[in-house]
Amino acid sequence: MSLLPILEYPDPRLRTRAQPVTVFDAALQTLIDDMLATMYAAPGIGLAASQVNVHKQLLVLDVAEEKNQPMVLINPNIVASEGSQTYQEGCLSVPGIFADVDRADRIVVESLDRHGQPQRIEADGLLAVCIQHEMDHLAGKLFVDYLSPLKREMVRKKLEKARRAAVG
Ligand code: NI
Repeated sequence: MSLLPILEYPDPRLRTRAQPVTVFDAALQTLIDDMLATMYAAPGIGLAASQVNVHKQLLVLDVAEEKNQPMVLINPNIVASEGSQTYQEGCLSVPGIFADVDRADRIVVESLDRHGQPQRIEADGLLAVCIQHEMDHLAGKLFVDYLSPLKREMVRKKLEKARRAAVG
């Protein structure tokens, strides 16, 4: 398994719309395992393929405390949603930034598993937040898009400053 580099905001490649997965081959299995390893190493609770510059409708997540419940969702589609919840979200592509985002409280998601078998997931709480956040990535959307333009500009400047500091 290898760790994959994660694209960071405002990298324009994060705005790419992911295409459906149609081939469930060995290369896909390797990509999934690499994405899981990258997510756990970061550490994060979710990772979309878009974030590692692979523009396929694939996401991995694990919201369990013990980090022992990896989930893989391919070509996900939300077929029902209700209620609303606010959660302070972060993102591996927007390091060090956290902000409140409103999302549906309960969702039903149909997707395929890593072998192409249909699966239906009923999610609420953090799992529902995480799935919606990762599905946004597949559509080229980031959680900072929900912030006011002023707040988003502050985020961009903060990240730019951190990056300059990092290179010396
Ligand atoms: Ni994210």
